[in-house]
Amino acid sequence: MTLRLSSAGESHGPALVAILSGLPAGLTLDRAAIDADLKRRQEGYGRSPRQQIEQDRVEVLAGLRQGRTLGTPLALVVRNVDHKNWTWGMSPWPPEGEPSGKGTKPVTLPRPGHADLAGVLKYGHADVRDALERASARHTAVHVAAGSVAKALLASIGITVTGSVVDEEALRANVDAARAERDTVGGIVEVRAAGVPPGLGSYATKEDRLDARLAFALMGIQAVKGVEIGDGFALAGLRGSEAHDEIRTDRRRDTNHAGGIEAGISNGEEIVVRAAMKPLPTLMKPLASVDLQTGEAATALVERSDVAAVEALAVVAEAAVAWELAVAAKEKFGGDAVGDFIAAHAAYIERIAWA
Ligand SMILES: Cc1cc2nc3c(=O)[nH]c(=O)nc-3n(C[C@H](O)[C@H](O)[C@H](O)COP(=O)(O)O)c2cc1C
Repeated sequence: MTLRLSSAGESHGPALVAILSGLPAGLTLDRAAIDADLKRRQEGYGRSPRQQIEQDRVEVLAGLRQGRTLGTPLALVVRNVDHKNWTWGMSPWPPEGEPSGKGTKPVTLPRPGHADLAGVLKYGHADVRDALERASARHTAVHVAAGSVAKALLASIGITVTGSVVDEEALRANVDAARAERDTVGGIVEVRAAGVPPGLGSYATKEDRLDARLAFALMGIQAVKGVEIGDGFALAGLRGSEAHDEIRTDRRRDTNHAGGIEAGISNGEEIVVRAAMKPLPTLMKPLASVDLQTGEAATALVERSDVAAVEALAVVAEAAVAWELAVAAKEKFGGDAVGDFIAAHAAYIERIAWA
């Protein structure tokens, strides 16, 4: 069965949910490991106090028994603790009683760079909040939980996935300077996957290509505006003799300009991908906008927001890459029980005599 993931949830709604189907049975999950990833997503230089309000914890509603997957859809929930301040404004049903708490007044000041303007036009909303609540990156929390599950599956065949910020020191200096000017910044993150055997993905169709799938997964994350596989854009300026990774007799490489993927297939070297994040669109010193109610010139919505979320993106990108690699690994090795998956991987490694 194909590994599939779908999610739902608004930023200030009751909870975020994800359903993961196609996982093999018998995979041991560690609640502490999933919660640790959720905590990593909330940390990082430049994040807002929202992160202290929410202390994300995973809950499992289905698909797991006594810490082991059942081979049935796994239902994950991450509650929005902050919802208690939005029970009227974000009530799923027509709210009862007098308006109270947050989100009671319609937002009419769209932020440049956010979903606000195009979102209300597309869906016919009168309140920008109806668009921004889902467009917000809050729901990446439950995708991080799903990525944690994917990492457990990948670990069973010796694959590890790690995300980090490219140049953490520069980021911190940028954040300090931007905060002082009530501005925001972006940055670059890198995800590396070690232990990936040659043969995940395919050149057969564009949908099969592992590079395309990873790019799709990373571009699917809010605020990501560029993706590189291996040396990416820099390859365009190199000669072929400098750009390609020569093959040794043991079929390994001394260089890895390709980032572990050739012709859409993993080649056995470390997978290296990078994602560029734009500066966050919610500014404490807001940009010019229009009041959608009056049509008058105005400044954009100011709402509690991060100065940067690049460290968080490293965790979200790690989860996205882990999920895509798990999909590709499951596609290649199959298995209703995790032991079948592991055995198929071992048989393949033996066939290709991969050291
Ligand atoms: C982990 C993470 C946290 C984010 N936090 C914020 C935030 O606090 N404020 C904000 O304006 N945008 C934030 N964003 C970015 C917006 O969600 C994003 O820019 C917006 O949804 C528009 O989508 P686009 O940038 O992909 O075009 C965050 C993105 C990520 C990945």
